[in-house]
Amino acid sequence: MPAIEEKRISKKINTRPIGVFDSGVGGLSVLLKLKRLLPKENFVFLADQLYVPYGEKNKKELVNRVYKITDYLRKRHDIKMMVVACNTATCAAIGELRNKYSLPIVGTVPAIKKAAENTKTKKIAVISTPSTSKSLALQKLIKDYCQGIKVLNIGCKDLEDAVERGELMGGEVRRLLFKYLDRIKNSKIDQLVLGCTHYPFLKQAIVKIVGPGVNLLDGGEGIARHAKSLLSNYLMENNAEKKEKIIYLTTGDPKKFSKIASKLMKEKIKSRKVAF
Ligand code: DGL
Repeated sequence: MPAIEEKRISKKINTRPIGVFDSGVGGLSVLLKLKRLLPKENFVFLADQLYVPYGEKNKKELVNRVYKITDYLRKRHDIKMMVVACNTATCAAIGELRNKYSLPIVGTVPAIKKAAENTKTKKIAVISTPSTSKSLALQKLIKDYCQGIKVLNIGCKDLEDAVERGELMGGEVRRLLFKYLDRIKNSKIDQLVLGCTHYPFLKQAIVKIVGPGVNLLDGGEGIARHAKSLLSNYLMENNAEKKEKIIYLTTGDPKKFSKIASKLMKEKIKSRKVAF
């Protein structure tokens, strides 16, 4: 692995932004946690909506996109750290990314370890995109942490698309959730891992189906804590007194992104289109 860049203590590096990306608006669920824990940091959020859904792409395509995004964010925004706010991209490409780039990189993997620690019934479930569900990375997490635990691994199509449309509770969401969560109903699972960053926005709809007895887990807070400790280890924290600034970018339609992102972030958001 290349050494982390040696530009640590200067003021310049402290105010440089943190790059955060996903295929779409799902990564905003991670950005919300990052903002809360790191209120002085600047961020550049990139939604790769021209290529959504990532969950139906193969490893080669995902590695390609992730390289392009990282090159862009480094060259144009001089990011000091990258947060891959996407389980699918992390499971497919985090190794390649870390090998190629010399900047701290935080990934997002399904919170299997936490679910395994929490479960009393020794039964857990994970819902994720088709790509994550089939990935070696997820299989390895299950093998490493779930000895003696029954794991329902459920790949879901089209759920992320509902969130992309800003549909968090409607009939189509309920139909999809009923279809995917049907196996959970009588299974006695007590932990449900949300293995896609779009899904935390569906929490209310999911609870309505699985009931309050099932604990929902996503990686957002853990990712924010990990990012904070890396910033501190590499002396990269932003110590400026100003509030954080966030730039929102999309490779898709900026009007559509701004509308849905404003709804999800509960504040007015303006974005602009980028192409690379
Ligand atoms: N939000 C992404 C994830 O965490 C991917 C959604 C998609 O584009 O399929 O996996």
